[in-house]
Amino acid sequence: MRRVPTAVLISGRGSNMEALIRAAADPAYPAEIVLVLANRADAAGLETAARAGIAAEAIPHQPFGKDREAHERVLDARLRRAGIELVALAGYMRVLTPYLVRAWAGRMVNIHPSLLPLHPGLHTHERAIAAGDSHGGCTVHLVTEGVDEGPILGQARVPILAGDTADTLAARVLVEEHRLYPACLADLARSLANS
Ligand code: GRF
Repeated sequence: MRRVPTAVLISGRGSNMEALIRAAADPAYPAEIVLVLANRADAAGLETAARAGIAAEAIPHQPFGKDREAHERVLDARLRRAGIELVALAGYMRVLTPYLVRAWAGRMVNIHPSLLPLHPGLHTHERAIAAGDSHGGCTVHLVTEGVDEGPILGQARVPILAGDTADTLAARVLVEEHRLYPACLADLARSLANS
């Protein structure tokens, strides 16, 4: 089976990226992680990826100031030069412009730490607890122009326990993120490989 060349975009520690790299270490996994890009040179995940033998580079957004699209044009060129067909955002903390979203329509996924459509945006666990939700969780979705709004590919639910704080809930949800993301990415890669 053809493995779909895939890039992961990160901004920080990259634990979801690591889960994807681990899954893709299996030659039977339908996506091959060939490139990791970060918008910050100090993203800890860059070292993790490099240690795993994956090309890992920073393309900092700062020099581009307010011109988000100019930064994205450089990202896009790098992705295409590497022959990438699928992009996984994993804790990539930049809102994308329509330019990059359209360029990768149907081929870019994100993981969000809430049960979308509940709690898009930041501070999801805090908000789930404050709202009295019975469950928190995570969602993998296709990236569209509305932030955290694209078609849902998969979700995992985690009960909210009495005494949970945003940190304790985040830690339990993260365990599920690390299972859900590789499973959803595999499904999408399989359908792209056959298309
Ligand atoms: C995760 O909770 C992810 O859902 C969110 O940002 C966090 C990134 O964590 N989008 P990591 O960098 O993957 O460890």
